[in-house]
Order: sequence, then structure tokens, then C-alpha cells
Amino acid sequence: DKYPHINRGLDGIIAFSSTKSAIDGEKGELNYAGYNIDTLAENASFEEVAFLLWNDRLPKADELEELNKQLRAERDLPEPVLEYIRTTDKNAEPMSVLRTATSMLADFDDEATDNSPEANMRKSIRMTARMPAIIAAFSRVRDGKEIVAPLKEGSIAYDFLYMLNGERPGEKAEKVMDICLILHAEHGMNASTFVCRAICSTESEIYSGVTGACGSLKGPLHGGANTAVMNMLLNLDKDADVEAFIRERLAERKKVMGFGHRVYRTIDPRAKHLQKMSKQLAEETDTVYLYEWSDKIQQVMKDEKNIDPNVDFFSATVYYSMGIKPDLFTCIFAMSRVTGWTAHFMEQAENNRLIRPRQLYVGEKNQPWTPIEKR
Ligand code: CMC
Repeated sequence: DKYPHINRGLDGIIAFSSTKSAIDGEKGELNYAGYNIDTLAENASFEEVAFLLWNDRLPKADELEELNKQLRAERDLPEPVLEYIRTTDKNAEPMSVLRTATSMLADFDDEATDNSPEANMRKSIRMTARMPAIIAAFSRVRDGKEIVAPLKEGSIAYDFLYMLNGERPGEKAEKVMDICLILHAEHGMNASTFVCRAICSTESEIYSGVTGACGSLKGPLHGGANTAVMNMLLNLDKDADVEAFIRERLAERKKVMGFGHRVYRTIDPRAKHLQKMSKQLAEETDTVYLYEWSDKIQQVMKDEKNIDPNVDFFSATVYYSMGIKPDLFTCIFAMSRVTGWTAHFMEQAENNRLIRPRQLYVGEKNQPWTPIEKR
């Protein structure tokens, strides 16, 4: 490396303290505010996890009911946001539409510039309630279908699937979606959370934090990987030799999406839950070949590189088996992670200092001025 004292990618740098989550990369363990992800995936609802991330404790029954009431009451999108969704290019990237519409929400929120903790909490609830409606509305509009208005009942997972498909989901589909939302809600100082905290640190406001975070999440090295995984699988012929395909990719030093992680040195604990669901759903939906491919890819990656799957690898086939279009996968990640982003935004605001690292300048200095006609 030309500049060995530069920490490229801020690898291993601890820049914040946080109570929101703990990752043990060696053990493959993840906790949200004191609760193991396995415990949460098996017992919690996504709304309970949102409360946990925002308040650092589990809600009591009446508190959860109150939060659910608020989340249901805030689902409707302002008409101009719906109009934007109706009129934007049908081929636009869904994550880009989600980013723009989330940003627009600020214009129709009287509290947009109120940075008090109370207003930030209310805006966090509002964004969490509205992002699913944005994603579902755009998905329907581009398919030439009517937008389905949100219900004033049911969980976020239930209402999202209802708005997306225009029919009420079964218990099983709701449960799978709910677990997916729980698994994606928070994950330490990942790129989008860092962006969100950096935006907060300038005393900007929370819509900007989440808008910026959406822009960061959609890249294929971060949340965009789930879409990339599915596109990779769908581009293969049904009789493809998947092992040879992966070996070839690795030989060309190309990355295999959905594998590897900056922090985990073993399997991502979220991937274990998703793998189980992916297998079950594949068996139920006649897409067993996809699961078999995934299994083979996992083996080749282990043998050749000793690299394990991350959250994005099996979530891709889970969503696909549920009939969701691949380019919406990252949006589902975002509608969950908004809880983690906003939790971090509020935590940063509580004890803020401007985020302002340094760079090593490696160019020339004090050059003589050359008139334009002589350059
Ligand atoms: N496929 C093939 N090789 C890989 C992969 C992969 N997916 N990931 C890491 N490697 C190799 C990499 O080529 C390098 O090898 P070498 O030392 O021989 O050059 C070594 O492992 C270290 O990789 P790195 O890119 O320096 O590691 P990083 O910590 O900078 O990158 C990562 C982490 C997630 C960006 C990377 O693993 C990656 O690009 N994975 C694919 C994209 C992906 O699945 N992203 C989702 C991340 S998890 C959830 C989320 O945030 O959305």
C-alpha cells in the first residue's frame, strides 16, 4: 500500500460509542440493545424491535400498543408524494424513488426542522410508517396497477404485503416478512449508519439523515447486494454448472455478492435464520433449484475462499420465493433499517460532536499560475 498509515475504509476504527447493537465478529453474534438476534427473531415483532432500538429497552404491553397505534395512524402519504410516485419514470430504480420520496416527506412535515428529541421520535415513527407505503405504491404504479391505500390495522409487515399485492397476506407470509424486518433493523457502524450520524453531526435534520443513508445503502457493497445476488442467480441457465460458474468468477478475482463481511469472520448470524426460511419457502414454491444452487455456492465459497454468506445472500431467495421483484429487495432492507438509522441519529444528537476527519494531501502545492491560453 502506498500510504500505509491511512486506514482505508476506516477498518477497525472506533469513532462512536453506542447502545444500539453489538457485533462479535469472531463468534458470529449480534445483539440489539442487549438482546441476541436469535432471541428477537424467535420472540419479538418488528415493532417491538423498533421500540427497543429507540428506547434501549423492550416495551410494556401498553407502550407497544401505543406505538402500533401511532405507526398505523401515520401510514398515509401526502398527496404530492403520491403524485411524484405516479409520475416519475417507471424504469427508475426503486431505491432511488424511495430516497427521493423520503426526502420529500420533510416538505410536508411541520416538524421537519424541529431537532428536539420529542420531534425526532415522532419523525422516526412517521418515516418508519411511510416508507413501506412508498415502496408498495411505486411497485404498483410501474406495473400499471392502482395504488393500494394502507390499512389502519395490522403490523407493518402485514400492511406492506397488503399494499404491495393488493390482497391480505396469510399468517405465514406476514411472519416471514416480520422476521426479515427484525433481522435487518440494526447493524453497528455500517456505511449507511455512519452517513446518517455524519449528517446528524452537522445539526442537520433527521429526514436528511435517512435520505443520505438510503443513498449509501443502495450500493451493491452494502444493501444493494441482495438485489445483486438475485440477479446473479436469475442470470444462470436452469442446467448451469453453478460450482464452475463461481470458481470462474473467483479465478477472475470477481466478488460473489452476498458473501464476506468487514466484521464477521464466520457466518453472519442473520444468514442462519434466512437460510432456514429460504429452504422452507423454496420447497413450498417450486424453487428448490434456487436453494440447491445457494447451497452449492456456499460450499464453493467456503472451500475456495473460506468466506461465509452475509445477510444479503439468503434474504434474496426468501423475498423471491414470496413473489417480490428483485429490485425491491434493498427497499425492504431500508424500510427496516430506518429504525436503526433513526436510533443512531437520536443517539448522536444526544451527545454530538461534528464529524470531521482528516485526509492526507498527496498533490502538488503553490504551483505558478499559467494563463489559460498557455496551458
Ligand atoms: N467474493 C469474493 N471474494 C471476496 C468477497 C466476495 N464476496 N468478499 C471478500 N472477498 C475477498 C476479497 O477479494 C479479498 O481477497 P484478497 O485479500 O485476496 O484480495 C478479501 O476477501 C478481503 O475482502 P475486502 O473486500 O478487502 O473486505 P472488506 O472488508 O473491504 O469488504 C465487503 C467487505 C462486504 C464489501 C466484501 O466482502 C464484499 O464486497 N462482499 C460482496 C458484497 C456484499 O455481499 N455486501 C453485503 C455486505 S453485508 C450486509 C450489508 O451491509 O448490506
